[in-house]
Amino acid sequence: MRPTFFHHLHPPTIPAAQSRWRYTLGAGGLAVFLVLVLGVTGILEMFYYIPTPDQAGLSVQTITYLVPFGGLIRNLHFWAAQLLLIVIAVHLVRVVFTGAYAPPRRFNYLLGLALFVFAILLDFTGYVLRWDQGIQWALVVGTNLIKTIPLIGNSFYIILTGATQPNIATLIRFYTWHIFGLTLGAVILMVWHIFRIRRDGGIAVPPPGLRTDNKRITRYELVRREVLAMLFSGAALILLSLFSPAPLAEPITQTTEVFGEARAPWFFLWIQQMLKWGDPFFWGVLVPLLLLVVLALIPYIFPKPDDRELGRWFPKSNRLAQVVLAVITLVVIILTILGSLPAS
Ligand code: HEM
Repeated sequence: MRPTFFHHLHPPTIPAAQSRWRYTLGAGGLAVFLVLVLGVTGILEMFYYIPTPDQAGLSVQTITYLVPFGGLIRNLHFWAAQLLLIVIAVHLVRVVFTGAYAPPRRFNYLLGLALFVFAILLDFTGYVLRWDQGIQWALVVGTNLIKTIPLIGNSFYIILTGATQPNIATLIRFYTWHIFGLTLGAVILMVWHIFRIRRDGGIAVPPPGLRTDNKRITRYELVRREVLAMLFSGAALILLSLFSPAPLAEPITQTTEVFGEARAPWFFLWIQQMLKWGDPFFWGVLVPLLLLVVLALIPYIFPKPDDRELGRWFPKSNRLAQVVLAVITLVVIILTILGSLPAS
């Protein structure tokens, strides 16, 4: 039979250990699925969304309450975006806690990390597009952090937001970043990340000579599992979207005074919490960037995980990396919880 496009996605057979849920948690695959949902629902929203300051908030109301199935589409887009950040974080934790970033996968680890940053920026810009009164922190305080960067801050702010302070140009700029600049970058990175998995020999397991489990599964079995996982997660996402609407407050219009007092989106609550401690450049820009650098260096500065220990959780050979990631994750979770508590 002549190979079709689908035959190129997976090799004819793979080691069974590479496709065990309890090893991968299916998190990478679920992230791909959520990105696909975001693409489809995002395109559908574009038919009705109007990116002008006096119409944007109202057009989101139109999508939510008037367009047939508009509310469901918007909820699916919102929940897929929030879940994507959680699923990527889980995927990152699994990659580090199984030592799967070891060479030859170090570069793919960096591609994955870049994807994580793109996903956060996409969530942030999408959040601002809602153009309701809940987005004021993001619009004012969040973007002002850029201005605190010495020397380049002000010019960088103008490039990213289109003006010296939030105005008509800002919404267009965020819209273009969201639907084009960031999306294009994320799609390229995702295709590259997936291509590299195959290039690096599939999911990390011990090399053939060191394997204790030599079972293999066919690509048909792999696709069967992938389709099943997509059906289950698709059904769960639809249920969530049917019963839990995406937040929406009063639209921002020309008469709205923008104060920047509202709360940060949940994924930036930990930064909002740190901003209470003092210098905005240090806590709001430098510390998050330092964390990113530490994450990026994990495959390069810690001892290389032992080949024999690949394919299982918590290998002894990469304990240090596990501890570092566990501490970072814990601190971010605690700060997020503190940031979500009502101000006293
Ligand atoms: C939108 C974001 C991402 C998508 C769609 C994605 C997708 C995937 C998929 C489908 C796999 C194979 C299945 C699996 O391991 O679960 C995978 C593996 C991998 N990913 Fe990601 N990923 C993303 C983010 C990340 C991040 C944030 C990192 C780490 C910083 C990362 C590093 C890796 C590595 C090293 C592998 C190979 C794992 C192994 O060989 O065991 N990825 N990714």
